[in-house]
Amino acid sequence: MTQAAYLRMEGLSKAYPGVVALRGARLEARRGEAVALMGANGAGKSTLMNVLGGVTLPDEGSVTIDGAAVHLRSPREALAHGIAFVHQELAMLPSMTVAENVFADGFPTRFGVVDSARMHREATTLLARLGCNLPTGRLVETLGPGDRQMVEIARALRRAPRIMIFDEPTSSLTSREKARLFDIVQGLKRDNVAIIYITHFVDEIFEICERVTVMRNGATVADRAIAQTSPADVVHLMLGEADSAERLADASTGPGPVVLDVANLSGGLLRDINLTVSAGEVVGLWGLLGSGRTELVRALIGLDPIESGTLRWRADSELQPITPANLHRIAGVVTEDRRGEGLLLPLTTRANLSLTSLRSLLYAFGVIDRGKEERLATDMIGQMHIKVSGSGQTVGTLSGGNQQKVVVGRWLATNPRLFLLDEPTRGLDVGAKTEILKLTAALAHAGAAVLVISSEPEELLRICDRYLVMSRGRITAQLPGTANRTDLLAAVAAAPTPSRAA
Ligand SMILES: Nc1ncnc2c1ncn2[C@@H]1O[C@H](COP(=O)(O)OP(=O)(O)OP(=O)(O)O)[C@@H](O)[C@H]1O
Ligand SMILES: [Mg+2]
Repeated sequence: MTQAAYLRMEGLSKAYPGVVALRGARLEARRGEAVALMGANGAGKSTLMNVLGGVTLPDEGSVTIDGAAVHLRSPREALAHGIAFVHQELAMLPSMTVAENVFADGFPTRFGVVDSARMHREATTLLARLGCNLPTGRLVETLGPGDRQMVEIARALRRAPRIMIFDEPTSSLTSREKARLFDIVQGLKRDNVAIIYITHFVDEIFEICERVTVMRNGATVADRAIAQTSPADVVHLMLGEADSAERLADASTGPGPVVLDVANLSGGLLRDINLTVSAGEVVGLWGLLGSGRTELVRALIGLDPIESGTLRWRADSELQPITPANLHRIAGVVTEDRRGEGLLLPLTTRANLSLTSLRSLLYAFGVIDRGKEERLATDMIGQMHIKVSGSGQTVGTLSGGNQQKVVVGRWLATNPRLFLLDEPTRGLDVGAKTEILKLTAALAHAGAAVLVISSEPEELLRICDRYLVMSRGRITAQLPGTANRTDLLAAVAAAPTPSRAA
């Protein structure tokens, strides 16, 4: 049964200097239903939701809730209309506790004093609804991205919202956390909440949404019932073309000399890691979240201490010992946490793109060659299709996916011979994912050695020449480039799981 829309956003426009973010966009949401808001990176999804959240004032357009026009001039006014927002880029207070973050927009008080006991009790209850038993006294800075996401969702739930916005909520969740989130979404629907759900995982929306609205270039191009559409339709509407899942690299013609050689590496979770990556080869590091994939990359680049082991890399013709600290300088590294480790948000796109190439941009006397810097930036923006008004746009104002492209792009600019890529496509739309995967394959083709982590077997299958399977901090199997999806899944299933670890 279709009911009348509870929320109606119409004719919304918003321009920034040099960028039109919204062009007459519209969106409807119904109580007890979830509507998926889909669109390529930079399409305007977050901006439209920022309007609803009172974060961004539109130039034109109207918002009505339950038939009445509303003015959303601040997040506080949005809250007063029952609108809660789980943001794409988490807005946490890292040096405060879990409970304080849940109650960040208003602590409970008793006789004018913060009622700390009640705050912790209620935070515990809210988190328990999410199936999450984090100690509420823990500092948020000690939490991983998945747990931080749970804290942010608990904060939104606290207000018993009537409209709930999720902006890419699953990009940092494990599959178990994701299952819990889906339960929460179903529960909110039963409570008659209207849900707006943004994601780049097309399959998710067929699981939990009733409708789908698609945006392209700031405008709404479709609004349909999920039952009357297919994943291929959605991708086609988003990109104006079909995406294919074809393999991007031919099975390697045989790798060149070893570029990275790791022997008997142990430290933290990691136990006795032996691996090599050769020139011209893409090696996929495959395993469940928590199997040690990210830890391995972190240990290699010196972010986590190692206890023992030998690391060598091919400088000119010889394999030479490396310290993790200098690997950081010789390898192109993309980490999971682009905002924490990756980008300088207040600086321009140009400055961020040239960051790692600074040395090659200097004149002999140490002054930056601005012309060269600009050419490098313009090249990368073109090559990666980064959506900016110009190379001078501040990185903090790019859409989430376009920020990720800047992280990848600035490494490409340095032409390193070794790449360590941890979830390089996270937060990217399906079209941009394919672009990054193509670039990865092209890097290897040009002779670089690539070690890549992805949680999506479909992605690895398109580019890898070889797979290393990880579990409980060890490499438990190796699979050839001819392995298929079933082989990868079987390799993980056969390995002991982290939760069974002693
Ligand atoms: N404060 C701002 N100043 C300048 N431009 C902005 C600002 N906020 C957003 N934009 C621009 O508006 C456009 C739409 O961005 P938005 O964040 O809404 O995209 P999105 O659909 O959420 O993309 P993604 O999937 O990558 O998160 C982008 O080109 C972005 O650079
Ligand atoms: Mg966004």
